[in-house]
Amino acid sequence: MVRNLSAIRGGTKVLESVSCEFTPGEVLALIGPNGSGKSTLIDCLSGFLTAESGTISVQGIEIELQKTFSPYKHSICRTFQIPRIARQMTVFDQLLLSAENSQNTSIDARVRVIEVLEELQASGYAQDMGSNLSYGQQKIVEVARILLAKPSLVFLDEPLAGLAPHMRRIVMKAIQKMASNGSAVVIVEHDFPNVKEIAQRGYVLDEGTIFLTGTMKELTENALFSNLYIGI
Ligand SMILES: Nc1ncnc2c1ncn2[C@@H]1O[C@H](COP(=O)(O)OP(=O)(O)OP(=O)(O)O)[C@@H](O)[C@H]1O
Ligand SMILES: [Mg+2]
Repeated sequence: MVRNLSAIRGGTKVLESVSCEFTPGEVLALIGPNGSGKSTLIDCLSGFLTAESGTISVQGIEIELQKTFSPYKHSICRTFQIPRIARQMTVFDQLLLSAENSQNTSIDARVRVIEVLEELQASGYAQDMGSNLSYGQQKIVEVARILLAKPSLVFLDEPLAGLAPHMRRIVMKAIQKMASNGSAVVIVEHDFPNVKEIAQRGYVLDEGTIFLTGTMKELTENALFSNLYIGI
């Protein structure tokens, strides 16, 4: 649960008193125009930026607003708007690390990696080094990592951007699977027609504040949302 979170970047307040809540098993959309603060909110909640003020609590326990709130880091996974994967490791090896770090299953880690690679149609580049992958392939590796890690809280920053339509469908299915595995999934994405299909609820950010919230149906029926949506 997040209460009254504010953040400053480059000397400017870019998040102002943001409150939101994430639910296990739910896909939640963070929507808003460019520069509205979506990635900054993810940065604050995943330990990549220290918020200026506000509170973050996990299962009723308040956690520190520091870049590394270590006790919870293992239960949070994120992807980046510009993918960040290991460049000097093969895809298979870096996924194996994610699988081995997760202790949620007794199934052999190698078997799980093979299964996830197949599921994401990524087996063809399993032995390639990270540095040789296309932008879209890097995004798929980030998604694979999360499927293997099975964290409690997932943040996906524009996971569909730059993907071919058939790969978008595959990633959308993977996102739904993350939620059905019990993760609370937060997705930032400009591709609203597809987001609407997979998210149950949404928060709409504008200039660093939450401007609207509701189920996806409520949002799409809201005239204020329609006006803002032209700019998304
Ligand atoms: N590293 C940074 N240093 C200074 N200002 C930044 C930095 N990163 C983002 N900002 C500013 O913070 C504000 C929020 O940016 P943020 O990246 O969170 O927006 P966003 O909603 O994710 O946008 P987009 O849809 O374009 O990804 C913007 O005004 C942006 O210019
Ligand atoms: Mg962003």
